[in-house]
Amino acid sequence: MRNKKSDADLKNLFDISGKTALVTGACGGLGAAVCRGLALNGANLVLCDMNQASLDQLAEELRKLGVKVITAACDITSEESVDAMVAEAMKEMGKIDVLFNGAGVAHRELLVTMDIAAWQRVMDINVKGTLICCKSVAKAMIALNKPCSIINIGSVRGFNGHEGGYTGYGTSKAAVHYMTKTLAFEWGKQNIRVNSIAPCVFWSPLTEPILADPKSAAGYLARIPMGAAPEPEDFVGPTIFLASEASCFVTGHILSVDGGTVAG
Ligand SMILES: NC(=O)c1ccc[n+]([C@@H]2O[C@H](COP(=O)([O-])OP(=O)(O)OC[C@H]3O[C@@H](n4cnc5c(N)ncnc54)[C@H](O)[C@@H]3O)[C@@H](O)[C@H]2O)c1
Repeated sequence: MRNKKSDADLKNLFDISGKTALVTGACGGLGAAVCRGLALNGANLVLCDMNQASLDQLAEELRKLGVKVITAACDITSEESVDAMVAEAMKEMGKIDVLFNGAGVAHRELLVTMDIAAWQRVMDINVKGTLICCKSVAKAMIALNKPCSIINIGSVRGFNGHEGGYTGYGTSKAAVHYMTKTLAFEWGKQNIRVNSIAPCVFWSPLTEPILADPKSAAGYLARIPMGAAPEPEDFVGPTIFLASEASCFVTGHILSVDGGTVAG
């Protein structure tokens, strides 16, 4: 039987202060905004990305918000590197309550001209990398034996077919959605919730070239009922929801944050 929530619990449903969140892709458009949002709400952070200088710069900014921040230059496709990062995080922070799998790469190419090595790279980073981080962090979470949350990043491209060359990227994100659902089953009884956020196209260094060009942007924006691309900060609220007690019985869910794109 589950514990009944008190009025105080209900008032503090979205409180993430004191939680430790490990964020991969921390220096990217989405990752940096989510890290800032989590820090502003009192979460301590383990920042993971490829480049130590960028990590140091981000960590310095976030520490000014009064939270503890450590960094790990780590390639998420290497199980050895990820295990070392998680071991260091456990040593320094004592726990990981939240894993935000923000690292990923984009790719568009029609299949007949596609270099299969490029397809493999997308699968390695978006699928294998996410899987390795889930595996390594979940082992630490299971040992902690307390409620934890894993948030993967899928995409609207993981739901539907598209004419624009998404057999690499879309396939990888569909795999992330499936992985999310099946890990929710594997770890449900251990109180590790596993969910995905599925964004539509949003403003980031990755999409600046397509969204800044009015002609190419028009095609993307036509698919979004709200008529605009979100900013990375628009993902902070959904992240806090999935990281906090507010979503304590939500698992195996793919939360579209897409201005209504997949509603049609
Ligand atoms: N930008 C969009 O419109 C959009 C839409 C839907 C989904 N997404 C997804 O959101 C996530 C973040 O996208 P973004 O636009 O912020 O991209 P971004 O390129 O700005 O950030 C991605 C970050 O991941 C890091 N990274 C890449 N490979 C890595 C590896 N092997 N190990 C560790 N870190 C690695 C990069 O260094 C980068 O900082 C991605 O998974 C992307 O597929 C983006």
